[in-house]
Amino acid sequence: MGQFNTLFRQSIEQPEEFWANAAEGIDWIKKWDKVLDASNPPSYRWFRGAELNTCYNAVDRHVEAGRGEQTAIIYDSPVTDTIRKISYRELQTEVAKFAGALKSQGVTKGDTVIIYMPMIPEAAVAMLACARLGAVHSVVFGGFAASELAIRIDHAQPKVLVTASGAVEGKKIIAYKPLVDRAIEQSDHKPEKCIVFQRDIITAEMQEGRDLDWQELTATSEPADCVAVAATDPLYILYTSGTTGMPKGVMRDNGGHAVAIHWSMKNIYNIETGDVFWSASDVGWVVGHSYIIYGPLLKGATTIIYEGKPIGTPDAGAFWRVISEHKVKVLFTAPTAFRAIKKMDPTGSLLGQYDMSSFEALYLAGERLDPDTYHWASDLLKVPVIDHWWQTETGWSIVANCRGIEEMEVKAGSPTLPVPGYDVRIVNDDGKELPAGEEGNIVIKLPLPPGTLAALWRNEERFISSYMKTFPGFYETSDGGYIDKDGYVFVMGRMDDVINIAGHRLSTGAMEEVIATHPDVAECAVIGTDDQLKGQLPLGLFVLKAGVERKVDEIQNDLVKMVRNEIGPIACLRETTMVERLPKTRSGKILRGTMRSIANGKPYNMPSTIDDPTSLEEITGALGNMGYPKQ
Ligand code: COA
Ligand code: AMP
Repeated sequence: MGQFNTLFRQSIEQPEEFWANAAEGIDWIKKWDKVLDASNPPSYRWFRGAELNTCYNAVDRHVEAGRGEQTAIIYDSPVTDTIRKISYRELQTEVAKFAGALKSQGVTKGDTVIIYMPMIPEAAVAMLACARLGAVHSVVFGGFAASELAIRIDHAQPKVLVTASGAVEGKKIIAYKPLVDRAIEQSDHKPEKCIVFQRDIITAEMQEGRDLDWQELTATSEPADCVAVAATDPLYILYTSGTTGMPKGVMRDNGGHAVAIHWSMKNIYNIETGDVFWSASDVGWVVGHSYIIYGPLLKGATTIIYEGKPIGTPDAGAFWRVISEHKVKVLFTAPTAFRAIKKMDPTGSLLGQYDMSSFEALYLAGERLDPDTYHWASDLLKVPVIDHWWQTETGWSIVANCRGIEEMEVKAGSPTLPVPGYDVRIVNDDGKELPAGEEGNIVIKLPLPPGTLAALWRNEERFISSYMKTFPGFYETSDGGYIDKDGYVFVMGRMDDVINIAGHRLSTGAMEEVIATHPDVAECAVIGTDDQLKGQLPLGLFVLKAGVERKVDEIQNDLVKMVRNEIGPIACLRETTMVERLPKTRSGKILRGTMRSIANGKPYNMPSTIDDPTSLEEITGALGNMGYPKQ
């Protein structure tokens, strides 16, 4: 049996031994009483009784080990023409100072802090400073609108909000502060203080009494030390889209997270201390948390904070430039970034200008890696192209090709094999396990490994009902797919109303909630349609109230604006169409899945419960007029 299979078997049959061994990679203040506390299923807690500090493990211990002069962060910002290298020693100083600044504003262990920042090193400093104090950070992605930020403020109840004056998005400068002001106006909970990092590109107006200048505050604050926290204490909350307008606050603990993320750096990505690892994502997403900040830093590697795009900053050679300039060993991004590069430079002609000798492998995740993109990237780069599947909830890979253990043969369209710790099964809707090759619900047998969601923040009931209830004893991933006879997992897409737009997870239900508030709309549905560049795009269908006389295109403009204003530009809702009625079951459930199949040109069976079959013909006609299914 190969090395991978042996390790995998051990992780499933003797999880406590397996993870206790992996935990040797972390410095503990106090070791655990129990590796796995299984006393309260379906909630499981790892490393009960242990104490550590995540920031210490990600920063201070590398300085103490004599690697203080090694670069921890490379900030590469083509949009501001800046490259800045920060050593572990400098990072330690900055983080300790900012932790002191937070402390001076009353932030202590267990308090929550919202971070709404662009891709600048200060975002990492703010996250690590929270971890240093045992405070719980919740980073909100900059592409979300004020009302989405307000929802998160109300739910996370932060003592302090940390932001920057603005961001550069491609060629646009986006002022963040007015957005933050609006969000705080809208929210019921008011953070006591708002710490603002003023950038050269734009200056934020400050509100007296509430707003504090980052630079002024850190200039006078006393550096703060690392605080001991329990392994089971929360490190962060990250809100992710569910099927409704209320996002789910995924809670990650300190101990299990540190162990699993550290383990994944070598075993999944083949990264050693001192290597350069680049995750081209955003700190606002889980990829940013795990693989821009915590993973590389826990491992003592060098991470890159890239403030730019794969194309247009300045061209489709941007990724190759960063790889060659900073000697990147592994790049992690979403397939959509490669589709964007391919569209601009189909032959990859720009690659020839760069020395790619440091580059060892490309890892892609966030959405399905279509075989075309896989072949294009691997033919061009001539390095392994590794698809891996995971979710905000799991925080790290469920299925991957663990090159650091043993490189497996790649099958295009599959992210390869379940990762040690994950007992992945395929079941039908009744929970019956399906044989190889048959498609169904992808579930994971409990307990989940360390580093996966410990809970939903302040919502135990939703934690159970969203993930643990449908298939007792298993975690419901909400993705569908199959496992082939060799054990390779094929992930075919979400089974719920969550869609993936350019690797960003969004809820069609949340968009429907916005559209439904339009005074002229009687009812609506938003479905995900296939898109060659972004993977999926939302399409809104709406029925007007009787007697509405306004022009339909005016209403359509309203709807696009409303979704942009309420959810954010990242929702990318540009297409809507008016229909006479929506197809429904006899009990009144809108047949979204069937409409999705029609729009995407997929076969479907006429639902036996349909109220009126002609309603589907009407929808087929309306979608056909809009050019669906698109080629
Ligand atoms: N702050 C404010 N606005 C933001 C933003 C941010 N941090 N990020 C994106 N937006 C805006 C964009 O400016 C754009 O606005 P527009 O409608 O006014 O043009 C909108 O949100 C949509 O952004 P995006 O989906 O990123 O589209 P794009 O056309 O700007 O870029 C890609 C397309 C494919 C190049 C880009 O999505 C990309 O690089 N994706 C890589 C994948 C990735 O990072 N995934 C993250 C999870 S791994
Ligand atoms: P997020 O929580 O934003 O990371 O999104 C998670 C969802 O993205 C998953 O549930 C999948 O639907 C999708 N996804 C992520 N990675 C992959 C992948 N490698 N293959 C297929 N789908 C993926």
